[in-house]
Amino acid sequence: MLACTRIGAVHTVVFAGFSSEALAGRIQDAGCAAVLTCNEGVRGGRVIDLKSTVDAAVRSCPTVRHVFVSQRTDKPAVMGQLDVPLDQVMMSQSPACPAEPLDSEDLLFLLYTSGSTGKPKGIVHTQAGYLLYTSMTHQYVFDYRDGDVFGCVADVGWITGHSYVVYGPLCNGATTVLFESTPVYPNPGRYWETVQRLRISQFYGAPTALRLLLKFDNSWVKKYDRSSLRTLGSVGEPINHEAWHWFHSVVGDGRCPLVDTWWQTETGGVCIAPRPADHGAPIIPAMAMRPFYGVQPVLMGEEGDPLPGNSVSGALCISEPWPGMARSIYGDHQRFVDAYFKPFPGCYFTGDGAFRSEDGHYQITGRMDDVINVSGHRLGTAEIEDALDEHPAVPETAVIGYPHDIKGEVPFAFVVLKEDFGSAPLAVLQELRELVATKIAKYAVPEHFLVVKRLPKTRSGKIMRRILRKVAMETTGDLGDVSTLDDPSVVKEIIEAHELYRKQRGQE
Ligand code: PRX
Repeated sequence: MLACTRIGAVHTVVFAGFSSEALAGRIQDAGCAAVLTCNEGVRGGRVIDLKSTVDAAVRSCPTVRHVFVSQRTDKPAVMGQLDVPLDQVMMSQSPACPAEPLDSEDLLFLLYTSGSTGKPKGIVHTQAGYLLYTSMTHQYVFDYRDGDVFGCVADVGWITGHSYVVYGPLCNGATTVLFESTPVYPNPGRYWETVQRLRISQFYGAPTALRLLLKFDNSWVKKYDRSSLRTLGSVGEPINHEAWHWFHSVVGDGRCPLVDTWWQTETGGVCIAPRPADHGAPIIPAMAMRPFYGVQPVLMGEEGDPLPGNSVSGALCISEPWPGMARSIYGDHQRFVDAYFKPFPGCYFTGDGAFRSEDGHYQITGRMDDVINVSGHRLGTAEIEDALDEHPAVPETAVIGYPHDIKGEVPFAFVVLKEDFGSAPLAVLQELRELVATKIAKYAVPEHFLVVKRLPKTRSGKIMRRILRKVAMETTGDLGDVSTLDDPSVVKEIIEAHELYRKQRGQE
């Protein structure tokens, strides 16, 4: 990443868990000239065959002129026409490389993320504002001081890794930690052993990992020295109270401020979070609380008007620009304007809902659109539906987010099968799982599949997902207004299919 920025090249880092099709889609959209990969990746005791994924992807990417291959493991990579052995060619390069002067608004990187409709979008971040914002938030939100070792365990393929593994900490001269594993490999003490070994001062991670770890005995934490820790941080999804208290009292021994940080790929850096260093109100558990300097949150009501006063809930918008905000969607500025600035003219709309408490603190209540969060990974339900709909047996699907103990949410798919396939649904469902894994990634594969005859639709043909959510959650006692349904008898049909599904799951 740093080498790219030094020569003025725009980078777009792709999470190693994506399929070759998902990778190809990103390379094509960005028109990439070069791809950098390792021969293999290693994670949690598993080897990921990155080079084959890249090989399959670049076959459909005519803009790619070179594939640079670095040897992460000893296994020799099979080299093709486009491939260049990175470690070897670097040996013959000059160690001096003057930095390319750029304009403050020139592109720095693209990062693809999911929206409620369409393909993932290439969020555009630019040079100066992004760097300023990540550096300031890194300093003030985490109480960073010279000499600290900053431990953000996010994967560098997501925005958290960009802003708080690479750009923010390095801009402030911090020592930053590159964590290349899972929280439970080789055992559930991995994070805390790393804290002890590297004397980490700030530990920044995701609730999904905490929820996994708190199920193990606390001795996995206690046996390691965590006295170096000063600030703890959480990011990416709502943190439940149990995880917050465990992180605060067991990991932090009750002495480290724990900041719940709310932000997005599009915001570049943290926008709402407590700032322990500048002595605001005492931290309220599991609450993002305070906007960062210069960030002006506004809550909008159903009529699209700003809601004044406190103790109100609404659509979370930001009414003034801030340095780290995304500048565009690559190749489609109109989509950027439509997605973020049309819903509430004059404001940036986050897609999230929030509550402003009696004393003016912000609590994020979750997405208001069809975006779900699986283990901290953001996914558009429309992307999963598109993948499922490619199966010849499937005329229609609807995917919703369903709560999960550790992952936060998992995709729940309602699937309509063509009549002649209805007799072999198990085989089709297995093919559907494989289809999602090949089109997107394994983590996007629905945990639940419910085969239904029809989906609940309004007279204008729109799927009423609200009803599907209620069926999945078994809260159909209160279905709300169903008067716009084309045929209300469909609800009973789906509830019955769901009851059968539950019984079958119970027997498994
Ligand atoms: O719904 C919010 C949730 O994650 C979304 C942004 O996802 P992404 O762009 O992948 O960036 C994640 C890392 C910054 C938001 O729209 N989210 C993020 N942080 C929080 C959160 N939800 C609740 N509390 C948070 N602290």
